[in-house]
Amino acid sequence: MIIAIDGPSAAGKGTLARRLAAALDFAFLDTGLIYRAVGAKVLARGLAPADGAAAAREAADLRSQDLERADLRAEPVSQAASEVAAHREVRAALLAFQRRFAAAPPGGKAGAVLDGRDIGTVVCPDAEVKVFLTASVEARAERRSKELRERGEEAIYPRVLQEMQDRDTRDSGRAAAPLKPADDAIVLDTTEMDSDAVFETVLAVAQARLSGD
Ligand code: DC
Repeated sequence: MIIAIDGPSAAGKGTLARRLAAALDFAFLDTGLIYRAVGAKVLARGLAPADGAAAAREAADLRSQDLERADLRAEPVSQAASEVAAHREVRAALLAFQRRFAAAPPGGKAGAVLDGRDIGTVVCPDAEVKVFLTASVEARAERRSKELRERGEEAIYPRVLQEMQDRDTRDSGRAAAPLKPADDAIVLDTTEMDSDAVFETVLAVAQARLSGD
């Protein structure tokens, strides 16, 4: 079984995906991390994220240790990830890896949970469960600011809000696999919903599908 979780940043995708994977004993892949690793390598080499050919070379040459870099959550890397993700050739270079993970989850697990922007629409259009998590941009910027402060980093709310709006615009407005719900996705707005309620709702759907409903 494949569970696809898409949505904008800080909508709660990662928390939900991790909890589902633990509850169902499925493998978990945070696909944003792959784009972040490409963005980080591009910046580290002094290349421009706008250069699609250069970014695609880094994507084709991605190693598992690149996913362990300490700077993957830093704001410049977030913006670079969103920029490199807009290039078709970068997305194409990363597609096979994601599909392989979903089709043959590591550790012989019976299923996989993938979170990202285009899992239900492009990477795994046949996923048995598709969820699109969203929330108001203000609520998401609030959550991201809190997360940054908890990590001991500076968080100026208006700046966090602006960066989130920039990333939303780029991720939703690009021609290649834009962020949007699949036609058959369950859309959950988490602005007023706590993470336990989101988890219980999606777990119930997944369990119903697993038992043949
Ligand atoms: O989920 P995240 O914030 O870690 O993702 C970082 C960036 O990567 C995001 O701004 C857009 C891009 N991304 C994408 O285009 N497709 C995905 N499946 C996952 C992430």
